[in-house]
Order: sequence, then structure tokens, then C-alpha cells
Amino acid sequence: MRIVAAKDYNDMSRKAANIVAGQIFLKPNSVIGLATGSTPLMMYKELIRMSAEDGLDFSEATTFNLDEYIGLSTDNINSYHYYMYNNLFNHVNIKKENIFIPNGMTSDIEKECMDYEEKIRQRGGIDLQVLGIGNNGHIGFNEPDVKFEATTHQVKLDQETILANARFFDNIDDVPKYAISMGIKTIMHARKIVLLASGLNKAESLGRALYGGITPEVPASILQLHQDVTVVIDGECASFLKRMGDDTIE
Ligand code: F6R
Repeated sequence: MRIVAAKDYNDMSRKAANIVAGQIFLKPNSVIGLATGSTPLMMYKELIRMSAEDGLDFSEATTFNLDEYIGLSTDNINSYHYYMYNNLFNHVNIKKENIFIPNGMTSDIEKECMDYEEKIRQRGGIDLQVLGIGNNGHIGFNEPDVKFEATTHQVKLDQETILANARFFDNIDDVPKYAISMGIKTIMHARKIVLLASGLNKAESLGRALYGGITPEVPASILQLHQDVTVVIDGECASFLKRMGDDTIE
């Protein structure tokens, strides 16, 4: 595992965008796993800039998003469909047929989850998975649990996640209680992973994930077992991890 310290959020976003862009430059038909939330917002802006100014070409790339809320239609501003089109897909030359996000409006969740796994398999698996981390250590919407959930599945969101995500909604009662998320095995099968974290809250959950025991209570801790993870963190996170004794941070 490489831990790369950036100066601040903007620098973290640029470094992360370089990793994604590098993947696409080297393998134009890459399959990229994507995250939503606040953390990757600036990374997406930078990818849009690179596509406009540096010739970054998404035309052969495929994307699979980690998760989607159950019950929000694609035009709901809080759906992850809306987020992704608004923050990336509408601004780059990716083909619509190469974009995959779980369908949170499906009437058959079990089938949707199985089909999602099958689509990832048919596209040859994920080359590079982008991750954020929850304050509770979740990745995707894999919440702390007594076991690791393997494949794409329905999740009941933790109260902590509902509280954290309430900032995007008018009212906390509007935050969906359920989501569809890639599983831990789906994520761990990605050939490369880049995890982004910025701010002190994230530093604490990252510290538990990177240096604590590997446990489903801290879902991100499983990443300790992955062969090719790059963690890109801002200065605040880096100072915190250094104080925890990590002297390998680049
Ligand atoms: C989003 C996702 C989540 C977020 C995490 C951090 O698709 O899978 O795991 O990455 O909740 O969210 P932010 O970046 O908003 O703090």
C-alpha cells in the first residue's frame, strides 16, 4: 500500500485525477469504478479539465459506480445518477452505453444486484476503483457489520451515514434508508484501488482502517489485504497518520 500525502484538498484531487487519467491514457478501454460524495468532487472537475485541455479521452472507457440510493429516481438531485451526470459524464466524451450505476428504482433488487455483478464480469472486471471512506470506515455503502458482504447487495444505511449524508437533503427524513452497493469482494477484485481522504474526521477512520485489525466492523480495513492500493490524503490526514507513527507516507 502506498500512502501519498498531498498539500491540501485541491492537490489531493489533482493527484487522484492524474492516477485516473494515467490509467485511461495507458489503457483507453479501462473499466473504472467510481465513487460519489464530497471527496471526489474536485477530482471530477480536474478530469473534466484534462478532457477539455489535455486530450483525456473517455470514449473507450467504461465506468461502474459503487452505489445508489434505493427509491430515488435518476432525475432526483440527490441520486447518484444525477450526481455523476452533473459532475462528470455530461462534460466528457464517455459513451452512455458504457456508464453503469445500480438502478435504485428497480422492482427486483436481487436481480439488479446479480445483473450488476454480471455486467462487471462481462466487461472484464474493474481496472481501477476510486474509493472514499465514511466516518464509520465504510467503503461503497458497506457499513460496519459482523461479516463482509461479498457482492453487490441491498444495504440498510447506518444512522451515522444517514446523518453524514443529511447535509445534501432538505430534511433528514428525506435521506433514503436503503441503498444498493457493490460488495467487498467486488471492490477487492479491482486490479488497482485509489482511496481518497481529506479532513480530520476521515483521518480517524483511515487510521482505524489502515493500522487496526482487519474486521468487518471497519469495512475499509480489508484494503490492507489488497495488492495495489494507493491512498491519497490531504495534509491534515497526513499529519494525523504521521502522529500515529506511520513513517512510510510519501
Ligand atoms: C459514495 C460512497 C461512499 C463515500 C463516503 C465518503 O459513492 O461510496 O463510500 O465515498 O461516504 O463520502 P464523502 O466523500 O461525502 O465524505
